Amino acid sequence: MSVMYIDEAAAHAGQEVTIRGWLRSRRDKGKLHFLIVRDGTGDIQAVVSKATVGDAQFARSAELTQESSLVLTGTLRQDARAPGGYELDVLRLDVLQVAESFPIQPKEHGTGFLMEHRHLWLRSSRQHAVLRIRHEIIRACRNFFDDRGFTLVDAPIFTPNACEGTTTLFQTQYFDETAYLTQSGQLYSEATAAAFGKVYCFGPTFRAEKSKTRRHLMEFWMVEPEVAFAQLPDMMDLAEQFLAHIVAAVLKSRRAELLLLERDPAKLERVTAPFPRITYEEAIDILQRKGNPAKPGDDFGADDETILSKEFDRPVIVHRYPAALKAFYMETDPERPDLALCMDVLAPEGYGEIIGGGQRIHSHEKLLGRIREHHLPVEAFQWYLDLRRFGSVPHAGFGMGIERAVAWICGLDHVRETIPFPRMLYRLYP
Ligand code: 4AD
Ligand code: MG
Repeated sequence: MSVMYIDEAAAHAGQEVTIRGWLRSRRDKGKLHFLIVRDGTGDIQAVVSKATVGDAQFARSAELTQESSLVLTGTLRQDARAPGGYELDVLRLDVLQVAESFPIQPKEHGTGFLMEHRHLWLRSSRQHAVLRIRHEIIRACRNFFDDRGFTLVDAPIFTPNACEGTTTLFQTQYFDETAYLTQSGQLYSEATAAAFGKVYCFGPTFRAEKSKTRRHLMEFWMVEPEVAFAQLPDMMDLAEQFLAHIVAAVLKSRRAELLLLERDPAKLERVTAPFPRITYEEAIDILQRKGNPAKPGDDFGADDETILSKEFDRPVIVHRYPAALKAFYMETDPERPDLALCMDVLAPEGYGEIIGGGQRIHSHEKLLGRIREHHLPVEAFQWYLDLRRFGSVPHAGFGMGIERAVAWICGLDHVRETIPFPRMLYRLYP
């Protein structure tokens, strides 16, 4: 008799096995109880027969409520009609706990209620599908960079610097000093790129975004490659290969989950290189042609990005935004000093920006000037300026927000389900 996970059933057909899990539902038919049991790896139907288990255990099984925890021993029978292809004929049933009335029922609940019970909602098959796809995306991100000789060098979470503007900083006390929760690992990746050549960091990042949108979280995970000697076109190539790789990995390993989410794989199959590339100015033209009031110099809001990303059947790279709209560290175009050598990658179907990046200023004098123009504290950036004093080279990188990628690939209309415990404008619980 061996303990097995439900997804290992194929290797145990005909054997006596033990399964440990939770009850999803029970259906009674005379002297038979049909239990749908989940263990995290899958669901299986277990048949409890009064004749086999005896009166006492049959009575115990009749008390089982949704989410009761139990251990079942029985014979695993192949059955083409069963959802997973196998059923368990129960010989013995051990109940660990009869669950209290479970708040989440198979009926529809409002989002507020589900978010309040996120710790329990995670047990649903839909949430499993989303979070398994998230896992696959993260694995694919790591594999992509690992296979290309990038070194993973993680960035700190407590920092003295603002990377992406001072308006979205979470401030905290660091003994006698003020610290901020990192908005991006980029500045540190620039240091490690000068040490290791090609690096990436991957970790949680924080933005005090006072915006309640379907794309913004206060805490999100970002994967950020940085490459010494690379320039903007290199990052466009890298981002394109990177996204195509991630999507292909999900299509290969998570078809069942996409199906459960009713995500049309054909839309993802189109995500192959090359991606269309347009300048910011071309993007403004498209918006104007679509009757949008955008004018040169405007930053794109979520609605503008939605319009742009609906124009293409795969991600689109928008490059060379006005430098005035962008962060202090952005290199400018030598032919058009008013434009930054930057790019955003917008996901199709209206999802909008999932990647932001570009080339970094590598002249010490220019960078110091920009830090001053942005009224940033020069002392806190001394270490960052040092990188331009000791063997400065052109370099570039980008960051992809994992949750936005998950929302797009899963076809979700909000990022709140893409992370196990979302931190949102009005939500810190659970
Ligand atoms: O465009 P952003 O602000 O770029 C950076 O942080 C650069 N320092 C990255 C780099 O070059 N290494 O953010 C990058 C990505 C966005 O494209 C988006 O996917 C995600 O991070 N992101 C958010 N995701 C969820 N909630 C938020 N509030 C986000 N802000 C940014
Ligand atoms: Mg951005």
